[in-house]
Amino acid sequence: MKVNGVHYRSIWYDNELAKVRIIDQRWLPHDFRIVELETLNDFAVSIRDMWVRGAPLIGATAAYGIAISMENDASDDGLQNAYDVLMKTRPTAVNLRWSLDRVKMELSEIPYEKRAEEALKLAHYVAEEDVGINKRIGEFGLEIVKNIAATKPSGEPVRLLTHCNAGWPATVDWGTATSPMYHAHEAGIPIHVWVDETRPRNQGAMTAWELESHGISNTYITDNAGGHLMQHGMVDMVIVGTDRTTAQGDVCNKIGTYLKALAAHDNNIPFYVALPSPTIDWRITDGVNGIPIEERSEREVTHIQGRTTGDGIGEVKVTPEGVPSSNPAFDVTPNRLVTGLITERGISAASQEALAEMFPDMLEG
Ligand code: MRU
Repeated sequence: MKVNGVHYRSIWYDNELAKVRIIDQRWLPHDFRIVELETLNDFAVSIRDMWVRGAPLIGATAAYGIAISMENDASDDGLQNAYDVLMKTRPTAVNLRWSLDRVKMELSEIPYEKRAEEALKLAHYVAEEDVGINKRIGEFGLEIVKNIAATKPSGEPVRLLTHCNAGWPATVDWGTATSPMYHAHEAGIPIHVWVDETRPRNQGAMTAWELESHGISNTYITDNAGGHLMQHGMVDMVIVGTDRTTAQGDVCNKIGTYLKALAAHDNNIPFYVALPSPTIDWRITDGVNGIPIEERSEREVTHIQGRTTGDGIGEVKVTPEGVPSSNPAFDVTPNRLVTGLITERGISAASQEALAEMFPDMLEG
């Protein structure tokens, strides 16, 4: 999508430099910095420390990480080592495993001397595929937005609420939850987006930034405001992304998503999840008990980063000295609270039967 009128993806291969480049998201929305990832360690750090983030982008970055590491050591041991190093970076988004398994399996079957070249092609393929998936999610999601718009007086915006950033920076392009927003905007359907701040890391600021860059009307709200807005008829639908969705449609997304789903359910507001199929973990059924939840550092809770008055980027501490903090990064929304899963193949009910019917070719053994 565009930044100051220039089209960017969140990760790309620069053919002239023969290097992978990313937007370093640690500084968004305050500063737009592009960096190169050159070693396996660079890739691992970039995922672990959230220079890149969002389930689909984590998957694509891991694929490029294997590709670059194959340039140095394309042996079976080198492949396994790259796989292990990258797999350890973040535990919840299943796209990481999906991408690493896929690339490793394909590379294992070809001779060492061809691996570097093939791995790069595979990484390009994973990235392109993500773009196509997200575009289709947008097309299907657009139909939902259109249907809601049809129930409103002409010109009144459809009001969507979203949590975290499931936008284009979290994917290779388009975003998942934002793709229907971009499609609706392009189709001339008026929309307004309530953007949850999403403490502790405030990924909502990135969502507000990307929507604003595309001229989409939005309002940044505290994480606690959504229930109130829903009670007062100010939200028409909730749409969020997912880091791992189970075979029965339980959805694991950024911490706080579950509370939004509860509030939506209590107020009869549709709660949709934009779900690319690589984010489905067919091995797990019960999300609450089966999905590993990443526990991140206390510092993300005790401190907040933002633009300082001196025009720099700085941190302030918000908690008193010595008080312990806890930082579970994701939570699970059970399928009963999910109105529908917007996938690249269409909209599925959040149930084992419906998902199996939509993706019969992907079911585990
Ligand atoms: O911790 P993050 O910023 O990687 O978490 C991102 C999310 O929770 C997104 O909603 C999810 O990955 C879907 S991205 C299209």
